[in-house]
Order: sequence, then C-alpha cells, then structure tokens
Amino acid sequence: MATDAFHSAVSLTVNGKRCDLTVDHRATLLDVLRERLDLTGAKKGCDHGQCGACTVLVDGRRANSCLLLAVAHEGCDITTVEGLGADGEDAAGEGGEGGLHPLQRAFVARDAFQCGYCTPGQLCSAVGAIAEAEAGRPSYVTDPDATPGEPVELSRDEIRERLSGNLCRCGAYPHIVEAVEDVTR
Ligand code: FES
Ligand code: FES
Repeated sequence: MATDAFHSAVSLTVNGKRCDLTVDHRATLLDVLRERLDLTGAKKGCDHGQCGACTVLVDGRRANSCLLLAVAHEGCDITTVEGLGADGEDAAGEGGEGGLHPLQRAFVARDAFQCGYCTPGQLCSAVGAIAEAEAGRPSYVTDPDATPGEPVELSRDEIRERLSGNLCRCGAYPHIVEAVEDVTR
C-alpha cells in the first residue's frame, strides 16, 4: 500500500516484533492488529470504548485499542494477549501450560471464563492493573490516606474497581477476581 493523503507509514513493535506498515489514517489499532497482523486475540466487542474486549498494552499501559488510531502510535510497543506468555518456551510444563503468563494459568485454574470472548481483554487489563497498583497508582477505592507512590495492595474491591472497564457478558467476574488474587497474593 502506497502512502498518500490518506495513508501513512507507521512502525510498531508488536509482541516484541517490529512491524512496518502503511495504514489508512482512520484505521484503529484494533483493526490493524486483527486485520493486518492476524492477531485476533483482542476482540471487537462494542468498537466504542465501552466493553474492554479490545484491551492491549501500549508502552506497558492498558488501553482500549478500538479507540486508538494506529497511525498515531509510531514507535510504540504494543502487547496483545498473544504476547503475554513466554514465547517459544517449552510447552511441556505442568498441565501442558508451559509458556503461559501466570495470569493465564490462574484463569485456567480458576475457570475464569465461559465463552472466552472477554478473556484476552481481561488478561491484558489485569496485567496493566497489577503494574499500576505496584507503581502506587490509586484507584477510586484506594484508601485516601495511603502514601502516594507506595504499592497498593490488590484487595477484592481494588481488583473489581480496577477491572470495572472490562465487561463479561457470561458473568465470570467472581472467578476472574479469584484468578487475579491468586497471582497477587
Ligand atoms: Fe473496544 Fe469495546 S471493543 S472497548
Ligand atoms: Fe464470555 Fe466473559 S467469558 S464474555
């Protein structure tokens, strides 16, 4: 695809791999990941920033990829659910789940999904939420007297609040919270 008034070249690092693309200026990051890079883990639930199914990590911070224009992310480091686990690791781990991210293992162990449509977004969002809490970023339910910048302990209320942007139409919320608890205890 040639660059013109409506298309520009952009370089992204996706799951550790550099990707040089020419994209339509209107293309969302979600559509580029799914339709140009064949990374279909991030899902298009609402395409309006309301469900969280499209959540990915952009430079380590979670974001709704349906709300981001790919062309505006030159040089960014994108991680999708496909990139969470240890790529290439021997998959012969306990239960045949070697290579999965600890949160992915916990989701399996806790049966934290039914249809699985929201799961990639839940996983990326939880990875981001855990990092935010470790970095001391408060949520709406964090004790206002907590020391700024000190890691925030992820209580059930904290997990619920921090993952409240990720909807699950199957209602797997209790098991999702348990899975996140398992990796943060
Ligand atoms: Fe992006 Fe729903 S598809 S928030
Ligand atoms: Fe079905 Fe969450 S597991 S939408």
